[in-house]
Amino acid sequence: MRALFHSLRIVKMYSILLVLCMTSYSLSASSTLDGTCVNPTTLSFIENSLTNISDQLKGSSNGVSESITSVTSLLQLTMLKEMIGSYKESSTSNSNEEGLVLLEHIELILNTSTADLNNKLDTSTAELSTRLSAIEQDIPSAISSLQSQVSSLSSDLNKLSRLLAKHVNVSLDDEEEAPSSPLLSSCDAILSKWPNSPSGYYNLADVNGHSRHVYCHMETLCGKGGGWRRIASLNMTDPNEKCPTQFRTYSEDGVRACGRPDTNSGSCVGITFPSKDIKYSQVCGKVIGYQVGSTDGAYAFRSSKVINLPYIDGISLTHGNPRKHIWSLISGYSGIAFSGCPCGSNNPKSVPSFVGSHYYCEAGNHNTAASYTTLYSSDPLWDGKGCGSTETTCCQRTLIPWFYRSFGYSTTDNIEMRLCCDEGTNNEDVAIREYEIYVK
Ligand SMILES: *[C@@H]1O[C@H](CO)[C@@H](O)[C@H](O)[C@H]1NC(C)=O
Ligand SMILES: *[C@@H]1O[C@H](CO)[C@@H](O)[C@H](O)[C@H]1NC(C)=O
Ligand SMILES: *[C@@H]1O[C@H](CO)[C@@H](O)[C@H](O)[C@H]1NC(C)=O
Ligand SMILES: *[C@@H]1O[C@H](CO)[C@@H](O)[C@H](O)[C@H]1NC(C)=O
Repeated sequence: MRALFHSLRIVKMYSILLVLCMTSYSLSASSTLDGTCVNPTTLSFIENSLTNISDQLKGSSNGVSESITSVTSLLQLTMLKEMIGSYKESSTSNSNEEGLVLLEHIELILNTSTADLNNKLDTSTAELSTRLSAIEQDIPSAISSLQSQVSSLSSDLNKLSRLLAKHVNVSLDDEEEAPSSPLLSSCDAILSKWPNSPSGYYNLADVNGHSRHVYCHMETLCGKGGGWRRIASLNMTDPNEKCPTQFRTYSEDGVRACGRPDTNSGSCVGITFPSKDIKYSQVCGKVIGYQVGSTDGAYAFRSSKVINLPYIDGISLTHGNPRKHIWSLISGYSGIAFSGCPCGSNNPKSVPSFVGSHYYCEAGNHNTAASYTTLYSSDPLWDGKGCGSTETTCCQRTLIPWFYRSFGYSTTDNIEMRLCCDEGTNNEDVAIREYEIYVK
């Protein structure tokens, strides 16, 4: 019984490996589709997988786990073999010597492992059926799930090999002169052309025809379909991530977040997210932060209503120069005497007209006067949750915590995120915990 659980764990591990493989292959497939597949990289990935499988086989000693390992390995090998075949077919038509040497090397490993496997499998399958008669239904279902994964993989492989041939010709033709770029110019275009493309890194052509390596989010965001290009992300919950250098790092109550450097007066700290010269006309994003000290929302009376100044206590997202407003994320006023939020119910404060309704506003502290130095970690801002009694409507927004803008024109402007407050950090600040900004 214990042996079986061990074996099923191995099956599971292999399923994960297969899914990983599929992701890698799908990515390669998509990359090939947009003309950027690098054969040697994919080939050395296959080579590593094969070496690993081979090691697994040598390492396994238990009869049951050995059969499972063997069966799953065989499935993997089958699909790898299919892939190698396709590569070989398409590669012999050109003079890619490096590729051919690699292919032969792989084929050798493959031939050895397959023979080895077939031998081992014959002996241990007999053992397997006697040992596991009581629970034998588990094994077929595990194997059939693997098989279905493999079969969905082989359609990817087909696609890949068909397009590989094309790519080989394109790169040979274009190597010498400036390439007439086969790259698409947006994640959305990739998704339209190949609707099953997974999220991941792709190469796109910028407006000058140069290749740009970007992350495409292919699932729906902001209710506007997939095909989004990520231009910024930060997740301070992940202990490996750091604040952009110009920001100060808060580390309190197990919360890590990024605020303004120490100052005795109003200030902004900003970061620019390059557009990489790729056009976009829509923005979908999310920012989560915390109130620190005594922020005043849109009641930032020391400021003017000017976009370049701290017109709110919070975050101003803009594009271009001069700055054009995208979204404001406002840190409201603590307590119930008045709401610093334009959406508040008690003596609300208005935002400048360039903001319009393109803002979220929440406070992180309710009903008590704020301490000037506390980071209010229990109620994160702009997540649409925990709005106080004077700001309930502020949480009633359709997409919150996501925000969405469609410009009605396309641009290659950089996007700028500025964290501004109209008083010093001895009075107030806002601390950013995470953001994700996508464009298309
Ligand atoms: C092969 O195994 C090593 C060690 O187990 C691992 O680090 C590596 O990622 C594996 N390579 C592949 C392609 O699975
Ligand atoms: C692998 O085996 C096939 C036959 O199954 C054979 O044609 C091929 O030459 C072998 N490759 C190597 C590198 O030994
Ligand atoms: C690639 O080029 C070769 C030789 O020029 C040609 O025979 C083959 O049909 C081409 N493949 C594709 C897919 O165009
Ligand atoms: C941020 O990182 C944490 C810890 O690694 C993880 O649990 C969380 O899902 C991440 N958040 C996002 C939005 O990716």
